[in-house]
Amino acid sequence: MNAAIRAVTRTALYNGLEVMGIERGYLGLVNGEFKPLHKKSVSDVLNKGGTILKTARMDTFSQKEVQERAAQVLRIFGIEGLVVIGGDGSFMGASKLAELGINTIGIPGTIDNDLAYTEFTLGFDSAVDTVVDAINKIKDTSASHERCSVVEVMGRHCGDIALYAGIAGGAEMIIVPERPYAIDDVVKVILEGRVQDKHHYLILLAEGVGGAQEMAREIQEVTGLETRATVLGHIQRGGSPSSMDRILGAQFGHRAVELLLEGKSHRVVGIRNNQIIDMDIHEALAMEKKFDEKLFTIAMEIS
Ligand code: F6P
Repeated sequence: MNAAIRAVTRTALYNGLEVMGIERGYLGLVNGEFKPLHKKSVSDVLNKGGTILKTARMDTFSQKEVQERAAQVLRIFGIEGLVVIGGDGSFMGASKLAELGINTIGIPGTIDNDLAYTEFTLGFDSAVDTVVDAINKIKDTSASHERCSVVEVMGRHCGDIALYAGIAGGAEMIIVPERPYAIDDVVKVILEGRVQDKHHYLILLAEGVGGAQEMAREIQEVTGLETRATVLGHIQRGGSPSSMDRILGAQFGHRAVELLLEGKSHRVVGIRNNQIIDMDIHEALAMEKKFDEKLFTIAMEIS
């Protein structure tokens, strides 16, 4: 996100605009928590995880009067264009503000990679790197002790973190909300592995399916193989971002400002076939995220 904030700020300054950073998302917007951003304000942020502007969840932003107040605050501060970084909830808010006459552009920022219109969202690649790093470490102990490890990763409705990290980290089994699974499938993998003299296993489980502890208990009970569960949690939402995320942040931020300069509004930026694209917010949100079946098949066939 910081790479995107930096790119938005510097592209805008390059084009002679003034830039205000809004702290704590829509909450800060409504409360007028604005601060001027200069070239120096966004120095040395590329290597930082999280967001220098802080973040907050604001459920009441779905209320019409709160949205109107936000638009009013933006007018008071003389803001002519707004760039919102976030997921579907943030984009819904951006859409409402655009409808209230504020030129608004959305940048996809969520580790879940759960937005259908773009192949990647900011933070996803870094989160996958974090998971793979954790898997490497867990595999060391799992191999030494000849155990099965069940690792639960983030992703509420979308199994992309589990899928990508599973393929990069060599998981024996990937369990995601998009595909039904039965505990018997996991047991089968372990029993078949035993015949091939395999003694340690890694099962990657998406948060949307959940129940890592319970699954570990069941695997141990049925197979007799010692099994441990690890829930990686918020470790996935921090740390120095990957190069890919930084480059994507630069491209998204730059394009968002270009769109505002072109007088565009109610649009989101994204990436498809290695090209930066933009589209209408409603159209983007109406698209249904498709699970990458091919990648899943590859992961299973080579596991
Ligand atoms: O949407 C991103 C995400 O990291 C999800 O994967 C996870 O379920 C959720 O946020 C966690 O949210 P919180 O930090 O509010 O508990």
